[in-house]
Amino acid sequence: MKIAIIGTGYVGLVTGACFAEFGHEVTCIDIDESKISLLQQKQVPIYEPGLDMLVRKNLDARRLRFTTDFVPGIPEAQVVFIAVGTPASRRGDGYADLSYVYDAARRLAPHLEGYTVVVNKSTVPIGTARQVARILSEVNPEADFHVASNPEFLREGAAINDFMRPDRVVLGVDSPRAEEVLKAMYRPLYLIETPFVITNIETAELIKYAANAFLATKISFINEIANLCEEVGADVQGVAKGMGLDGRIGRKFLHAGPGYGGSCFPKDTQALLRIAQEHGVACRIVESVVEVNAAQKARMVRKIRKALGGDEAGKTVAVLGLSFKPETDDIRDAPSITILSTLLEHGAAIRAHDPQAVEEARKVLPQATYCSDPYEACRGADAVVLMTEWNEYRALDLDRVKSLLKEPVFIDLRNVYKLPSMKEAGFRYYSVGRPCVGDGLVG
Ligand code: UDX
Repeated sequence: MKIAIIGTGYVGLVTGACFAEFGHEVTCIDIDESKISLLQQKQVPIYEPGLDMLVRKNLDARRLRFTTDFVPGIPEAQVVFIAVGTPASRRGDGYADLSYVYDAARRLAPHLEGYTVVVNKSTVPIGTARQVARILSEVNPEADFHVASNPEFLREGAAINDFMRPDRVVLGVDSPRAEEVLKAMYRPLYLIETPFVITNIETAELIKYAANAFLATKISFINEIANLCEEVGADVQGVAKGMGLDGRIGRKFLHAGPGYGGSCFPKDTQALLRIAQEHGVACRIVESVVEVNAAQKARMVRKIRKALGGDEAGKTVAVLGLSFKPETDDIRDAPSITILSTLLEHGAAIRAHDPQAVEEARKVLPQATYCSDPYEACRGADAVVLMTEWNEYRALDLDRVKSLLKEPVFIDLRNVYKLPSMKEAGFRYYSVGRPCVGDGLVG
């Protein structure tokens, strides 16, 4: 089957490479010439485990091509995906900015030939697919097409696996013909018995927002419980385990930490609130989830301040991890940005390390000093903060860390280390929702 994908960002690129791996002929189109020329040279502009190998392999097999041209990719495609960005609107009102989606629709419309299914892959407010359909018909009244919604559920860092072995595939369609085409495209997943949710377009669009808002709710919920744990002397990891073993609750997404970040949860929760507001529906739970998440980041600043003796001014803080989660170089809405900006504003110096995100972090936090390894970051610092749980921070040489720090103060915002081992190593150890080690206090 011939597929065209507009937008070679994170979602478009993973989707394109994976469909090519299924054996389809995929054309990835982007207006960014420099990105396309990099990809043509088999260089992947983002860090996602396994993606470069998949791109190279499918380019070599000629099942994947990258171009800035809509022709011949669009006219020959049976399915055209719109996978461009839907960032939060620059108006700062929480709405998603749909200009890239509508622009893509306007540009692709004149090139539609034969029957085509135009699929929204980008996360878009309910009703967007219908708007896309309207634009396509307006620009090209002759076009023979149906629109559909096929939201992505790809986690950064695990995107290839999430695409190849998804928990489910959601298809929002309003015509049997489009449904047949999309089912044929996903045939390899049918073979491994992936559940398919085939529904109308509005439902598919809402599933994406509801799923992300629910996951964000789990995180904010456990973060509030963690804060309570700190006051009553409980251990949030025990609480999460005890709760999570109840099959109705589930163990995933109950890790307390500095708050959720990334390209999806912050923007999608805000967008869902706007959509609900527009329709006159209260969404109080999601409203609280967003507030709790902001408060959690602020609480982390206070935690670090307290560990530094009440004032960060003039202190040096080593920071391990900057990306919003491990296995990505993405720092969009990462808790690290809010937390470190506040510490810097209040006169702290930052020595940071991250295995992948330094280049991105430099653009937003130019005042920090960036170090090439975690131990270098710790040298001479008053405390170390473990911000993102990269694997390489899970087995640090604790004696070495201690000997490099001015004070043996370890603030673990991801609860990576066990309390007894930090006690034995001689740290004053602060984590999230667990008793503090070394200063007789909690939290
Ligand atoms: C998310 C969704 O999981 C994916 O289905 C969707 O379509 C895109 O958004 P992603 O943003 O890549 O994926 O990251 P995810 O792994 O979901 O983590 C999001 C944030 O929540 C991270 O900052 C992470 O550290 C945080 N998190 C996650 C927690 O704080 N606790 C948890 O238990 C889980």
